[in-house]
Amino acid sequence: MKICCIGAGYVGGPTMAMIASKCPHIQVAVVDINQERIDAWNSDTLPIYEPGLHEIVQGARGENLYFSTEVDRYIQESEVIFISVNTPTKEYGSGLGQAADLRFVEACARKIAEISTTPKIIVEKSTVPVRTAEMVQTILKSTSPETPHQVVSNPEFLAEGTAITDLLDPDRVLIGGETTVGGKKAVEKVVEIYSNWVAKDRIITTNLWSSELSKLTANAFLAQRISSINAISALCEETGAHVDEVARAIGTDSRIGPKFLKSSVGFGGSCFQKDILNLCYLCRYFRLPEVAEYWEQVIHMNEYQKERFVRRILEAMFNTVSGKKIAILGFAFKKDTNDTRESPAIAICRRLLEEKATLAIYDPKVSKQAIINSLNLPDEQIDSIQFCESAMEACDQSHCIAVLTEWDEFREINFESVYQSMIKPAILFDGRNLLDLEKIKAIGFNAKGIGVG
Ligand code: UDX
Ligand code: ADP
Repeated sequence: MKICCIGAGYVGGPTMAMIASKCPHIQVAVVDINQERIDAWNSDTLPIYEPGLHEIVQGARGENLYFSTEVDRYIQESEVIFISVNTPTKEYGSGLGQAADLRFVEACARKIAEISTTPKIIVEKSTVPVRTAEMVQTILKSTSPETPHQVVSNPEFLAEGTAITDLLDPDRVLIGGETTVGGKKAVEKVVEIYSNWVAKDRIITTNLWSSELSKLTANAFLAQRISSINAISALCEETGAHVDEVARAIGTDSRIGPKFLKSSVGFGGSCFQKDILNLCYLCRYFRLPEVAEYWEQVIHMNEYQKERFVRRILEAMFNTVSGKKIAILGFAFKKDTNDTRESPAIAICRRLLEEKATLAIYDPKVSKQAIINSLNLPDEQIDSIQFCESAMEACDQSHCIAVLTEWDEFREINFESVYQSMIKPAILFDGRNLLDLEKIKAIGFNAKGIGVG
């Protein structure tokens, strides 16, 4: 069998690498229009950082895994085509700031229709609004009515930083298709690929629309848990409760469960905000404004949490950070990834720069250029940033440390010597509740976490 994936990003790359490694009898091609990205996938420096990914790619690349810009060739040759292109929030026109921008998915559908001379199974991997498959089907049917293509939805649930273990041992694989004979056959084909390493009882099959909606719903529920615990964190700070203790106490109730209850400076990443905005847009489109308003609160709470963090820093620094150096430890939206999309660090750094602070940013995996691109600020504001090679360098001569990503290496910092090098009073804000604040306070820091009274 030959398959290909259009889009060599955070989802397409790791997912196809896993399929290739688990299915030596399948030829897997990952194609992208971005030559630089493809070159990186073919080099020793992969375009994304993901623990365990390098080994898997090295094991299969050149055997049954190829990265290429020859989009047309691999579409033509493949029986199954995954679409894994970006679906950002629309930045123009109708649906601005809410709807998903589907122009990349549409371009793929048009390309497949134009190139294919044999029937294809087209698998939506990118997160898409409900009924996107209908758009893909319409394009295929109107452009090449004589070729009976099938569209299947197979949303990806991997989380960055744990992508390889998530792919290797998924809670479930979801595959949705049409209930026609052809639709069922297409679903079976995709089931066949995953059953090479995933137990059959973990492969859930549904109709197309349930599968598409389940992905948005899963992300909305996950984000909602974080906003819920973050809302409680604000109350903890006022009342003397400790949010981690509250999370542990409620998480032992088996109906609630312990996961995804870590209070933080806010959730980031390419999915949560985008998918909830998209869910709200859909609700409004289907004239369900109350449902849209309900989910919008999850995003409002996330914005509030980031702004609250900045305000607490300001208060601790006598209401001005102008000209003061603040060390920013971590810029990625979570540990073990170099991804900065929607990272809470972006909003927090922008706000601190607006307050005229000088920032010293250190992240173990995010490059200087990626930070500059994410902040997207005028040069004079970028001039107020020092890009550092280590946490020690960032903290040196700073007034305040803000921990924004929970990288393991931050636990190993020698805070005694950091304290010596700081301007006093030395302030530390742990936006991830990563550090032992009691120990840090004992050194002399004015140290605060999230949701700690
Ligand atoms: C998410 C979903 O988990 C995944 O299933 C989907 O396919 C894509 O979106 P991802 O965004 O990669 O994955 O990471 P995730 O681990 O979900 O974290 C998202 C954000 O929430 C991060 O900023 C993280 O730091 C934050 N988070 C997560 C918390 O603040 N507290 C938690 O308890 C968990
Ligand atoms: P995700 O996190 O969903 O994987 P990324 O932005 O990391 O998203 O990756 C999406 C990839 O899809 C990018 O590398 C982009 O170049 C690629 N892409 C977008 N449109 C097309 C297209 N029409 N043909 C081929 N590749 C495309």
